[in-house]
Amino acid sequence: MDYSPYFNPPIETMSREEIRSLQSASLRRVVRHCMNSEFYRKKFSELGITPDDIKSVDDLRKLPFTSKEDLRENYPFGLSCVPLKDCVRLHSSSGTTGNPTVVLHTQKDLDDWAEAVARCLWMVGSRPEDVFQNSAGYGMFTAGLGFQYGAEKVGMLTVPAAAGNTTRQIKFIKDFGTTVLHAIPSYASRIYEVMKAEGVDPVRDTKLRVLCIGAEPHSEQQRKRIEEDLGVKAYNSYGISEMMGPGVAFECQCQNGLHIWEDYFIVEIINPDTLEPVPEGELGELVITTLKREAMPLLRYRTRDLTRIIPGECPCGRHHLRLSRLQGRSDDMIILKGVNIFPIQVEKILLGFEELGTDFLITLENKESNDTMTVEVELKGLFTDDYRKLQALQKEITRRLKDEILVTPEVRIVPKGTLAASDEKKAVRVRDLRKNY
Ligand code: COA
Ligand code: ZN
Repeated sequence: MDYSPYFNPPIETMSREEIRSLQSASLRRVVRHCMNSEFYRKKFSELGITPDDIKSVDDLRKLPFTSKEDLRENYPFGLSCVPLKDCVRLHSSSGTTGNPTVVLHTQKDLDDWAEAVARCLWMVGSRPEDVFQNSAGYGMFTAGLGFQYGAEKVGMLTVPAAAGNTTRQIKFIKDFGTTVLHAIPSYASRIYEVMKAEGVDPVRDTKLRVLCIGAEPHSEQQRKRIEEDLGVKAYNSYGISEMMGPGVAFECQCQNGLHIWEDYFIVEIINPDTLEPVPEGELGELVITTLKREAMPLLRYRTRDLTRIIPGECPCGRHHLRLSRLQGRSDDMIILKGVNIFPIQVEKILLGFEELGTDFLITLENKESNDTMTVEVELKGLFTDDYRKLQALQKEITRRLKDEILVTPEVRIVPKGTLAASDEKKAVRVRDLRKNY
């Protein structure tokens, strides 16, 4: 069947001028809507501004920044701009300390989110005839339901396989004729390794042709290897749960930067130290203002993700700005198995054990195509050789850490002085030895 190359042709092919004037109108509306929350009323009055001061995108810099800390401090519903009875879902992710962050959605927010993901999936060539399989975690992970509703909106047959169970995952790919797969890059490599071990040739034995990879930084070299291994085209996906999740920005078939949907978002790239905009095309922190969100609009949200805007036109006909692949973070967040983790979460759990000292070391490795985290922690007092006691302690630390960070670390209890000795200044908390990055 002949389809348009665009899921939403009028919006996706808008000129820069049209995008800008749509953004200005949306910004005026969203700023007025923000006044429904005490949080924004306070921020505006501190800056001495009112919604009338915001007439166009040119006035964006008058607005306050928002951050993960704002979400955490106003946990759970303090940033809501609609009554709770109008919200139909929330997603929550790890916070830097203490409380997690919560993002609320109205039904319209969810519909808009599904359309954003549908545009992305369509952009990389997915069509209703395709079979889409999602290996992301469901539940609170936004890539689960986020991709699910977007793929359904495209009209694909969807396989909500969820994370793990790689052998079953491969059976689904073969038996259901999966053509489009979503997997984070390290897990795509893991699927390939298990296929090899099971004698499955992805080109001969499967219909896979498109892979959506995101949620984890990866190099161009890693993308190429995954494409060769699995015999697919792999497209980079950028999502952030504070914005909604996947669907924020995605590569088109040109594979040169991720288009960010500018009818949903206004983008700024700032210097994280001075908070001033960087010169066009230079690397800085991505700051996003939501234009459509009802339940929880976010003004000038500091994502902490480092990227730059790719200048120039894209041959695909979309004029929505392109972000270069994400180049790291302006904070100390770790991404492991597609899960965001802050070292301070580990510290908080370890401090809860009176047997433990304050020094610990997190080591991230790639072992036999599996990403792993080892947490070494010192005992406070003399090392005990009571094996049963140590084993029980180790088991309890592992359980509580898994509860907090959602992945299972390997915990090693070491004698006092083992970790701090090598570094007299501030102890190094994280060693990332993964080869992929
Ligand atoms: N996506 C899918 N499966 C993954 C994965 C990922 N990112 N990371 C690891 N897995 C697989 C493992 O290979 C393993 O497979 P197996 O059943 O074939 O052995 C299985 O999940 C369990 O992994 P393990 O490392 O033993 O467990 P864990 O307790 O440390 O991790 C996960 C738990 C994998 C379930 C958790 O990390 C997860 O849900 N990750 C996905 C997060 C996600 O979807 N992020 C997208 C952005 S919102
Ligand atoms: Zn393009």
